[in-house]
Amino acid sequence: MAGLKAIALNGLIALSGVSALTVQKPLSHTEQESQSPITLVGKKPLVDSESLQDAISGKNLLARAKHLFKIAKLSQDTYSRPTRVIGSPGHAGTINYIKKHLEALDHYYTFDLQPFEAVSGTIHEFRLILDRNYSSSASAMGLTPPTKDKEPVSGDLVLIENIGCEAKDFPKSVKGNIAFIKRGGCPFGQKSAHAGKAGAVAAVVYNYEDSPVQGTLGTPVPDHVATFGISGEEAQPYLKKLKNGEKVDATAYIDSEVQIIITNNIIAQTKGGDPDNCVMLGGHSDSVGEGPGINDDGSGSLSVLEVAIHLTNYTVNNCVRFAWWSAEEEGLLGSDHYVNVLSPEENKKIRMFMDYDMLASPNFAYQVYDARDSSNPAGSEALRDLYIDWYTSHGLNYTLIPFDGRSDYDGFIRHGIPAGGIATGAEGIKTKSEAIAFGGEDGVPYDVCYHSLCDNVQNVNLTAWELNTKLVAHSVATYAASLKGFPVRTLKNDISLIAHPQVQADSYDKKAKYHGHKLYI
Ligand SMILES: *[C@@H]1O[C@H](CO)[C@@H](O)[C@H](O)[C@H]1NC(C)=O
Ligand SMILES: *[C@@H]1O[C@H](CO)[C@@H](O)[C@H](O)[C@H]1NC(C)=O
Ligand SMILES: *[C@@H]1O[C@H](CO)[C@@H](O)[C@H](O)[C@H]1NC(C)=O
Ligand SMILES: *[C@@H]1O[C@H](CO)[C@@H](O)[C@H](O)[C@H]1NC(C)=O
Ligand SMILES: [Zn+2]
Repeated sequence: MAGLKAIALNGLIALSGVSALTVQKPLSHTEQESQSPITLVGKKPLVDSESLQDAISGKNLLARAKHLFKIAKLSQDTYSRPTRVIGSPGHAGTINYIKKHLEALDHYYTFDLQPFEAVSGTIHEFRLILDRNYSSSASAMGLTPPTKDKEPVSGDLVLIENIGCEAKDFPKSVKGNIAFIKRGGCPFGQKSAHAGKAGAVAAVVYNYEDSPVQGTLGTPVPDHVATFGISGEEAQPYLKKLKNGEKVDATAYIDSEVQIIITNNIIAQTKGGDPDNCVMLGGHSDSVGEGPGINDDGSGSLSVLEVAIHLTNYTVNNCVRFAWWSAEEEGLLGSDHYVNVLSPEENKKIRMFMDYDMLASPNFAYQVYDARDSSNPAGSEALRDLYIDWYTSHGLNYTLIPFDGRSDYDGFIRHGIPAGGIATGAEGIKTKSEAIAFGGEDGVPYDVCYHSLCDNVQNVNLTAWELNTKLVAHSVATYAASLKGFPVRTLKNDISLIAHPQVQADSYDKKAKYHGHKLYI
């Protein structure tokens, strides 16, 4: 986790990414509290949850989804499929679509594009042969470099001591050979860099569980070497041989590329409301390269846009800041960048971040991130309970899901900002009891088209989407009107969090095995 600490420290000294936003001086709290919809004639009323929710309609959302699919089709010529992956015409179109709406609302919002460099990896082809057998569970790690000259390399499979998190775990014999490393304890990228530094021509990380490892190396560093993940089950016979002192030969081949793409976050902030106390929410504007990403995360990003549009009919007491993150699918790069460059003063103004990623899965469950104050910044639990209370008061079931780093809340939590959110499920399989609680089919993924070509307009459940968008509206209206009782941010806490991450962030660190949709540890 050394890399993450370094990022956190950079965030402390870097300038704010939103300092360019001009915000009007807010009315004082007493002035605002004397406002009410009844006494104001010709003025906008203070936002209230019920009316903001009433403004949300599934019909509008569906129309936006259809439009977004058309935008994804702009990539057809260059990508031979509809996609909104970063760098594609479909993603540029998505950014323009959001921007166009915000431009029309510039009486109410200031907004900015926040450019940053995103690394984007493409795996063209890979193969791993162990003991003359093609590995069936092998996958090439995200952002892996290719093997030398994009050609197969061969050597002995060399078992690495311990878990390969330290240079001294790598014996001299790994030079010119292929490192065989157990998963766990530190990010895959760290293991790969140690292997590369020790002269290995490739590395294979085997799981400590039976299942395969779909991982990413994270931000490329020069020492990274072509790296695979394989299942614990498949590793067993080779481990046995190696531990018996027998030789296992291996051939590794990866043809991949890592590009740097300049892409943009979009950040919009209400001109009204206390700019020192901001309620922040967001979804991600990009999709994976495999498909148009209408549920992931067309749904969340369009819900956020729809709420931003309707909010303009109201005044707010606290500032509301909307984000459309880019490069989420490359490993949360946009949201990471955003929090990394916030000054401590700007960081402190964000009272919470609400993550809205995949709100309309076809075989949905109403999922609430189980964000608790014991392992996350104070306030995360109050936010979790706001969602729970809403589902409960509407007679609906909900399920708590791990808050483990899979979406854009991760950077906020790591920078001391309370966060939470809702989702409707990705590649996970709906259980029998969930099928009773939410309808739909058990034994089938929540989103059977997750990260694939068929994540199109037919891949959203409009009932779930409309309902969850009303909940997004409720979350915004509630906190935009009042943060009474919501834990206050103090700079002192943030600094102590960064200086002693083991004290407060430790349990989150331990639970967070993901960074985006891929495992990184
Ligand atoms: C390799 O494949 C052969 C044939 O399928 C099999 O008998 C053998 O056990 C495999 N080797 C290992 C180490 O799994
Ligand atoms: C704002 O409120 C008016 C009056 O109720 C309504 O006609 C209009 O559609 C609303 N606009 C938005 C963007 O919600
Ligand atoms: C909630 O789940 C229970 C089973 O746990 C089920 O009987 C009930 O119908 C569900 N409620 C709704 C609104 O689906
Ligand atoms: C969406 O989910 C609801 C509730 O489970 C179901 O009645 C409806 O048929 C679903 N709609 C679609 C388009 O799948
Ligand atoms: Zn997503």
